[in-house]
Amino acid sequence: MNLAVKQRRPRAWPLLILLLCLPALVLAQADNRSWKALAEDGDHDPGSPAVELKQDPGEALKLLPPDSVGNQVRWVQALRENYIEPRAKLYPSTEVNLLDLGVLFTDTANMPFVLFPHRRHTEWLDCKNCHGPIFKEEAGTTPVNMFTVLMGEHCGRCHGAVAFPLTECTRCHSVKQDYSLLRRKEREMVLPGLSPYQDSDQIVLAKPKNHPMFETKP
Ligand code: HEC
Ligand code: HEC
Ligand code: HEC
Repeated sequence: MNLAVKQRRPRAWPLLILLLCLPALVLAQADNRSWKALAEDGDHDPGSPAVELKQDPGEALKLLPPDSVGNQVRWVQALRENYIEPRAKLYPSTEVNLLDLGVLFTDTANMPFVLFPHRRHTEWLDCKNCHGPIFKEEAGTTPVNMFTVLMGEHCGRCHGAVAFPLTECTRCHSVKQDYSLLRRKEREMVLPGLSPYQDSDQIVLAKPKNHPMFETKP
């Protein structure tokens, strides 16, 4: 009696198909964002006919570059890569001002320094949205610290409310601590490559103007 079973070579095609589908599976997996429908978000009256007429957030937002936090959209990227083109002004006479200047905050204990990029804020906001109500227009004069931010002041007026949340420490604390920066004699300097959120190499240090680390010219 011959018990030898005919050896069958395993078929390769099921594996091939799986391999071909893998990128699609990974992509589908990567974007598992979901948003509450207007009727279920607790802000809109589910009985109102407007709920039927308005677009649900998920329908619009799923087309935009993903973020893992907040409202799940990387807004700076969405604007810069032309996914969206918001109207910059209502009246033709309104002036749109952009400023390309980084402000570096270095009083950060054991956390990386904080870079505030003007450019990617002024692409959304007017100078007066911050200067006046929130920040003085001179680096180092507003008494900002992490407590005020967590209490909803300064950066916390927007971050955690309408801009990315405060749990994203390293989006603000994005500059490796470098004590040679603290010993610089100039308040303003050209410092390339500090942070992934840096727009301009022009940086001003947020320390009082008469701080001993700055040379005070007579
Ligand atoms: C929206 C921006 C922003 C985010 C997000 C943020 N910080 Fe800060 N943080 C600041 C600013 C601005 C300062 C003040 C720096 C200065 O005055 O030089 C600061 C200061 C600090 C300090 C210094 C001590 C103090 O009380 O000021 C610590 C520690 C700190 N942050 C920790 C954190 C941690 C941990 C997280 C995440 C849970 C975080 N920060 C998220 C902006 C931010
Ligand atoms: C999202 C908030 C925000 C907006 C919008 C904004 N700024 Fe600022 N600006 C800051 C912060 C934060 C500082 C640092 C304040 C501090 O340290 O006290 C600053 C500082 C400055 C300084 C001081 C620089 C120095 O050398 O000391 C100037 C000038 C300035 N801003 C001009 C502008 C202009 C012009 C616009 C509009 C085109 C503008 N800012 C829009 C947040 C903002
Ligand atoms: C008046 C509102 C407002 C204030 C005040 C404000 N921000 Fe922002 N910030 C925004 C908006 C809006 C965006 C763009 C949307 C987003 O990234 O969530 C943004 C984006 C950023 C980005 C870029 C994120 C990216 O993906 O490129 C950084 C970094 C940042 N803010 C840091 C700060 C720091 C630090 C402070 C305080 C010194 C501050 N912001 C104060 C509204 C504000």
